[in-house]
Amino acid sequence: MAARRTKPQDDLISDMVTLQAHGVPIDDEELRTNLQSLLVGGNLTTTDLIGNGVWLLLTHPDELAKLKAESSLASAMVEEVLRYESPVAMTSRVMSEDRDLAGCPMQHSQSVFTSLHAANRDAAVFEQPDQFNITREKVSHVAFGGGPHTCIGAPLARIEARRAFSLLFEKYPNMRLAEQDLTWRALPFFRGLETLIVEV
Ligand code: HEM
Repeated sequence: MAARRTKPQDDLISDMVTLQAHGVPIDDEELRTNLQSLLVGGNLTTTDLIGNGVWLLLTHPDELAKLKAESSLASAMVEEVLRYESPVAMTSRVMSEDRDLAGCPMQHSQSVFTSLHAANRDAAVFEQPDQFNITREKVSHVAFGGGPHTCIGAPLARIEARRAFSLLFEKYPNMRLAEQDLTWRALPFFRGLETLIVEV
């Protein structure tokens, strides 16, 4: 922030400190929190989307074959990876009033944690929810949350993932999983592999 104040560039941090200099009421702590959210929110999540997708495609050869035969399925495939192995498992909200929520009495300021994983495998919404199917009809998942706080980076994550998958499988058409013990990262809220070893 200090560097951009001295020498602004064509980037987000410069825009933020310029707004501040023009009197927009945001202090340094708020700026820092926003920048941290962007850094953390935009990093592991997209990495996991790509890792989870490579793992899913290599363990579901029929789905990979569909994608190789029809490259226009790339965006549907990304949505199905987001639904089936959502990189972010949960999100939360704070109650703005006392009221019952899904039959549970809640009070103002209490936190509510919602499982995006459960919602994305809801049998009332998805046909055969536990099946990874890149040509499913309806993929209205909530992997990016919803409402006013829906993920700000969703369009970027989608662009990155589509590009990464198409380049990876174009460049390494014979990619396959190497012999390995898979470990899912023991980090609450996130769903991703510690490592994924492939042979090309
Ligand atoms: C596959 C990749 C990603 C997934 C699965 C994901 C998921 C999420 C989820 C579930 C939320 C909470 C939404 C809610 O509570 O309604 C969120 C919020 C957020 N995400 Fe992402 N995200 C991804 C990529 C990114 C990227 C690339 C960026 C930034 C460049 C980013 C920045 C943020 C920020 C700043 C918020 C907070 C938004 C707010 O509170 O208003 N995310 N994301």
